[in-house]
Amino acid sequence: MAQQETRAVGGYSGGQKWLHWLMAALILTLIPVGFIMTGMAEGGARNRIYELHKSFGMIVFVLAVMRVALRTARGAPPLPASLPDWQRAVAHASHLALYGLIVLVPVLGFVGTSMCCSPVKLFGLVTVPIALPGGMETAKTILAAHGWAVLLMAAILLAHVAGALMHAVVLRDGVFQRMLPGGK
Ligand code: HEM
Ligand code: HEM
Repeated sequence: MAQQETRAVGGYSGGQKWLHWLMAALILTLIPVGFIMTGMAEGGARNRIYELHKSFGMIVFVLAVMRVALRTARGAPPLPASLPDWQRAVAHASHLALYGLIVLVPVLGFVGTSMCCSPVKLFGLVTVPIALPGGMETAKTILAAHGWAVLLMAAILLAHVAGALMHAVVLRDGVFQRMLPGGK
């Protein structure tokens, strides 16, 4: 019953699915790397990891903008009618929060960095031509907000992944499969 409804309204586009998994891989790597790098001793290795963190973080920002545009233009398949209202509400609220955070987190990282440490470079090659006033003190506050926003995102992601696994293993209602490439 639930699967028929899911199929009847179509599913995520290939672009939405590939963006979801590409961004999941990037974000789930950036989070631990971010916490590890801030604890490293000053030096070349730390600097190289910071540069990679910023570059991949800016890529996440570009992908996030594409993803929000795609989602706004194309929409998403509704959840199965068999799901209780509260689960539907939690799913919608958490997806909305994740869409907001995949834009906000890299923006805070970029704004903080360009205040204290411009120019920001993409993989050491392309200079991002934006330098913001504010100085080190404001930058520290904004980078702290970057860290807090990541913690909020990580907490929502724990629930998100648990929910996805519940659909895949317990409910088996097609909600997990419809986000897989090739899945309906
Ligand atoms: C192993 C990690 C992950 C798994 C297993 C997973 C699984 C899923 C699944 C199955 C859906 C489809 C839900 C539905 O159709 O209603 C989904 C949707 C979504 N996921 Fe993930 N996800 C993961 C990581 C992430 C990450 C890291 C992010 C971003 C921070 C993310 C953001 C989203 C968003 C925003 C949606 C809603 C899509 C929409 O309806 O427009 N996911 N995820
Ligand atoms: C979705 C993308 C991103 C994620 C998931 C992420 C994640 C993180 C995490 C977990 C930390 C450690 C926070 C802490 O220790 O308090 C961190 C720190 C940092 N991030 Fe990001 N980040 C992202 C994007 C960016 C971007 C785009 C930039 C800059 C262009 C950036 C610049 C920084 C900097 C400079 C720090 C160190 C802050 C400090 O030394 O206190 N991040 N990031």
